[in-house]
Amino acid sequence: MRSPVQRYLEHIVEQCGDAGGEVASYIPELADADPDQFALALATVDGHVYTVGDPEARYSIQSISKPFTYALALQDRGIAAVDESIDVEPSGDAFNEISLASDTGRPRNPMINAGAITAASLVEGETAPERFERVLDWYGQFAGRELEIDESVYRSELVTAHRNRAIAHMLREFEVLTGDPEDTLDQYVRQCSVSIDTRDLALMAATLANGGVQPRTGARVLEPRNVERVLSVMATCGMYDSAGDWISAVGMPAKSGVSGGIIAVLPGQVGLAVFSPRLDAHGNSTRGVTVCERMSEDMEMHLM
Ligand code: DON
Repeated sequence: MRSPVQRYLEHIVEQCGDAGGEVASYIPELADADPDQFALALATVDGHVYTVGDPEARYSIQSISKPFTYALALQDRGIAAVDESIDVEPSGDAFNEISLASDTGRPRNPMINAGAITAASLVEGETAPERFERVLDWYGQFAGRELEIDESVYRSELVTAHRNRAIAHMLREFEVLTGDPEDTLDQYVRQCSVSIDTRDLALMAATLANGGVQPRTGARVLEPRNVERVLSVMATCGMYDSAGDWISAVGMPAKSGVSGGIIAVLPGQVGLAVFSPRLDAHGNSTRGVTVCERMSEDMEMHLM
């Protein structure tokens, strides 16, 4: 027998159909995605996962990686040290803006590419491949299973990464990055290419909702004060230049990715993940945003 929660989620998905938008087209792996794919997963802090659609359809994590790499940098170096390299102000700009804050000379926040590339460089490890191995293992601790990279996405991303390459070199020029910018770019592109499904994302979000403890494995992954910092930055910057609309309508810390995933976190209760590849002009899944808005309203998930 389907539980009331399950029936409710299926009802929401039925009500919130196609919301328009375009599938990302800058690499073939994203351009070829079936625009009608859909998945929703809701993971509770006690480890129950409800799903609708195809929760095991795989795609690349893309920008949803950013809060988790930032979390690892915080865990490795401490908040004060990370703050010396990356600010926490919403930029109001697109995610791939080539800019540093004019007053501090630092990337404005860790959710835009400049800040995310810097966060990748702050992960501890002798070399970029070593840092990436730690990142991959780290994401797996949140998901509760071992993850791997989608090699084909990685190769396509790397040959088209002109803008991110420009950002990495800008960061090196202004000494925000101290190592080789090409190595850090490679590490960042790899992290965006990690292959996940919507169920993984819901459990990653639920680990944040659960104060840093993975609900199924019971392992403490992230310290509570770092959870607080990561969620604060997701709330103010996670949805880029639509962060204000998002927090007004949905009211939860969140992060989107260009392959069509969105995670949202209701602290103490649930991690939510939605996947639908059509995007709006900000790079956020259109149907994903609609579903989250509707759920937030119906289930009174708005935190404010
Ligand atoms: O850095 C990039 O351009 C991509 N690989 C990831 C960007 C992304 O997911 C932006 N989010 N909507």
